[in-house]
Amino acid sequence: MNNPSPHPNRVGPSLPAKGRPWSEIAAQLQELKAGDPDWKRGRLPALTYFLDDATYEVQGKAYQQFISEPVGFPSSSSMLKDIFSMALPLFDAPEGAGASFTTGGTESVFQAIKTARAQARDLRKERYGRFNIVAPETAHPCLDKAAELMDIEVRRVGVDGERRGHAAAIQVAMDERTMMVYASAPCYPFGVFDRIEELGAVAQSAGVWLHIDACWGGFLSPFAKKLGRSIPSWDFSVPGVSSISADLHKFGYAPKGASLVMYRDAAVQRYERFEFSNWPRGSYVSPSFLGTKPAGAVASAWSVMQFLGEEGFMNATAKVLEATARLVAGVNAIAGLRCVEPAGECGIVVFESTDAAVDITAVADRLLGRGWVRGQMREPRGIHQGVNPAHLESMADYLGELAAATEYVRAHALTGKFNEHTY
Ligand SMILES: Cc1ncc(COP(=O)(O)O)c(C=O)c1O
Repeated sequence: MNNPSPHPNRVGPSLPAKGRPWSEIAAQLQELKAGDPDWKRGRLPALTYFLDDATYEVQGKAYQQFISEPVGFPSSSSMLKDIFSMALPLFDAPEGAGASFTTGGTESVFQAIKTARAQARDLRKERYGRFNIVAPETAHPCLDKAAELMDIEVRRVGVDGERRGHAAAIQVAMDERTMMVYASAPCYPFGVFDRIEELGAVAQSAGVWLHIDACWGGFLSPFAKKLGRSIPSWDFSVPGVSSISADLHKFGYAPKGASLVMYRDAAVQRYERFEFSNWPRGSYVSPSFLGTKPAGAVASAWSVMQFLGEEGFMNATAKVLEATARLVAGVNAIAGLRCVEPAGECGIVVFESTDAAVDITAVADRLLGRGWVRGQMREPRGIHQGVNPAHLESMADYLGELAAATEYVRAHALTGKFNEHTY
């Protein structure tokens, strides 16, 4: 009996008895990648944000240099300081504002809520007690994830005719247990900005924290504005905005694991910290949620910001805007399809069918079969698509494929099975 019976939970290979050569492993990694969506050529609607090979190379090389280091060495502290001072002015942050680097949008939102709750508890002189957060129904689910972890109630309210969160609906749901109003710039489902000036006034008069989730558009809209786009006011220039989350690993072209949470007043960051000393080892203090943090993500985000400069971000944003405009015009020119209005305000487009003979889900299925992964939208039933620079080059091909898929579905009377899980 040389072979012990396999572990009952084992579904794949066991740890190799001896190590394998890197060349073999590298080849296998490439093989594994071959089955992934072709995201550098615009085949993915979101999750990846590809600018160009030069930026991708900087991203990787910088990460490599700090791949095993934790955040906390002088090098990463210095780069973090730079990142904050480069980023904060983009959001009209006043003197005395502060920021933290996190691993992504979800952690940034978690951190803002944790900080706001600790402040609310302190100001109200209560250690326990359940609070609520009021948000438009279009807020990203990371809000609910964070709230669930912290036992906070989320009250989602309706949006207006342009699908924007607005004061009247938010106000009705607020009460004395409300600790935060939450809004998006823009929201992920429709890519529209909530009415943040209105919400700032509501939050201010109630003395409540206002968080702006700009995870998607944070590193797009400041440059779109500089390019002359009309972007509604949503950042720290709006009175009442307390914190903003903005992802570097989206339109900051940083590697995965990079986001910022920013505070109008750095003094609130004392509520962000976690401190503990009731164990034998001594005091443990961490500035935000994670313990050991990857310095590679910091080095890479810092390097990409240095590499692109304002000009690079403007060029990247111009590509997104152009690709978005072409997508909206192209979809609206296909008989039987229509973009949901207002369309393409900030790099997200949703389109639906206007022809009973065109099942939009079947169109999405057909596109998937041709290598174009697209998000399926539940309400209204449609196709959901983020736009990044990689979509510009592939836009003509894509629109051709979309027109052909629409025609094919119509001609063959195809129907699709809606798949909730395409995010
Ligand atoms: C508006 C918005 N908020 C939050 C998130 C969550 O970000 P992450 O996936 O980096 O945690 C996203 C992701 O797309 C988003 O679009």
